[in-house]
Amino acid sequence: MMKEKIEALKESFNAKISEINKKDALEQLRVAVLGKKGEFTALMKDMKDLQAEARKEIGQLINNVKNDFEAAIAKKAKELEEAEINAKVENEWSDISWPETPVQGSIHPLSIVRKELEDLFISMGFDILDGPEMEEEYYNFNALNIPEDHPARDSQDTFWLKNGKLLRSQTSPVQIRGMLAKKPPIKFVCPGKTYRNEAVDASHEHSFHQCEGLVVDKGITVSHLIFTLKQIVSSIFGEDVEIRLRPSFFPFVEPGFELDFKCRICKGKGCSVCKQTGWIEYLGCGMIHPQVLKNCGIDPEIYSGFAFGGGIERLTMMKYGIDDIRHFHAGDLRFLKQF
Ligand code: DAH
Repeated sequence: MMKEKIEALKESFNAKISEINKKDALEQLRVAVLGKKGEFTALMKDMKDLQAEARKEIGQLINNVKNDFEAAIAKKAKELEEAEINAKVENEWSDISWPETPVQGSIHPLSIVRKELEDLFISMGFDILDGPEMEEEYYNFNALNIPEDHPARDSQDTFWLKNGKLLRSQTSPVQIRGMLAKKPPIKFVCPGKTYRNEAVDASHEHSFHQCEGLVVDKGITVSHLIFTLKQIVSSIFGEDVEIRLRPSFFPFVEPGFELDFKCRICKGKGCSVCKQTGWIEYLGCGMIHPQVLKNCGIDPEIYSGFAFGGGIERLTMMKYGIDDIRHFHAGDLRFLKQF
């Protein structure tokens, strides 16, 4: 009698547990079978009517079956737990290739131009580097061939910090960091924030952005520099723009140049935007000074390179016809919504 009951219980338990696919249903089954008022407790009560011999045999049988049930329940619980985690992973996946663009609002014009520059340089095989905004004097000046008493330091009104460091006044220190970290051939750009203690007006800000670029390899010449700079201007303005280099001085390049491009308003005829010259001054550039290469452990007898650095605000202003640099930080929605 007892054995049949136990057999029937086993059968119904196995049938029920195989159909369960939810945690609470499993718990219900556990209580119904193994709980205080469950089926096993009822079976135990029936045992008192058995004789000593039979009671021992049935007692053992009941124990075994109970252990089997407990094991089956634990196994099922684990399966359900795993299924739940898998379902979560399926439902809560995140796409790491999802673009960083905000879903609402608009993209800041400086971010648009910065992204366009990055895309252009990536397409030409350049790396994108980053550097600290709180910089050491050595990287911002000394290693760039700008010693302590050099007048070029005065032209960059530097924000000095209490800890002896400074807010970088240009992105050029990343040239040094990049060249120290890599071995030629080296090709990278570094867009980022820069700071100068300047009076703010329509064309000056104390916080602004620059993009630095650099190539070092065997046989690099001014023609490589000119080609690269032409790509920048033409890709930002979406049309072929004529450029020219004018000799200029920066301590970290020799020879040094300033890049002008043909005024897009008057097409070079002369207007108020280009101050009747037909050209717009844009960035500083040149062939990396041998001393700067040496400072980075690169032999100037074997390698040569070019570098350039220009303001992103200025480029953005010219691209979109923005007449006041202060718009970029003002947070005025009427301005921002146009992009
Ligand atoms: N760092 C310079 C500035 O802020 C710009 C510059 C000039 C960068 C010449 C260069 C360069 O890389 O070769 O005025």
